[in-house]
Amino acid sequence: MKRYLQRYGSMMRFNHWIMVLLFGLAGFSGLALFHPSLFFLNNLFGGPQWTRILHPYMGVGVFIAFLFMFFALAKDNLFGPRDMEWINKSSDMLKGNKAAMPPAGKYNAGQKGVFWVMAICLLLLLVTGLLFWQQWFADSVPIPLQRAAVVIHAISAFIISLVVVMHIYAALWVKGTVRAMTQGTVSAGWAKQNHYLWYKKVTGQGADKR
Ligand code: HEM
Repeated sequence: MKRYLQRYGSMMRFNHWIMVLLFGLAGFSGLALFHPSLFFLNNLFGGPQWTRILHPYMGVGVFIAFLFMFFALAKDNLFGPRDMEWINKSSDMLKGNKAAMPPAGKYNAGQKGVFWVMAICLLLLLVTGLLFWQQWFADSVPIPLQRAAVVIHAISAFIISLVVVMHIYAALWVKGTVRAMTQGTVSAGWAKQNHYLWYKKVTGQGADKR
């Protein structure tokens, strides 16, 4: 019978999916405000006024949801000496030659990179967004600073969107990963193949890598 290992608890999964929902809403409302050609997206939020009112609150929501994940998972995402080896061999990973990859802990170097880029972009989005939030703070912020904030806000949003697409692609590409965030478990085979050091830790077994 197939053996499964617990990867995430129910609170963490709930947190992740709330964050995904808010990220989607903040993203689409942001696009609606970004360029006239995307103005039609305002219809999703009840018109342009509502989009403008809701967007910052949804953005703050994403940040708060991420904060919980950040504190729970930052330790597992710290880079260690083994990660350099993983990065050097990442071309093998892209070629699908998983056997050539060095063993990874709970997260591999690619996942860790995604985690930190998300954290930095979300912090930049929050700080810059507050600076030009008309309803609360913008009146006390000099105009040149607001303009710089708008540019950094848009660049951070672009980068995090690319990284989220990569994150979703990786979750779908590595078969058996999505159930970690839906059911909370992964098969022992998945863990052994993709996160051998984590597999060893949670099972207490030191079986051969392959
Ligand atoms: C439909 C969209 C998404 C899917 C299918 C998805 C799927 C997953 C899966 C399967 C994992 C577990 C990976 C593992 O344990 O190896 C995960 C973890 C995670 N996801 Fe997502 N995700 C999505 C969107 C997002 C978004 C929009 C964000 C952030 C804005 C995000 C942030 C994270 C973070 C921070 C982790 C923990 C990984 C780490 O700490 O390195 N996800 N996701």
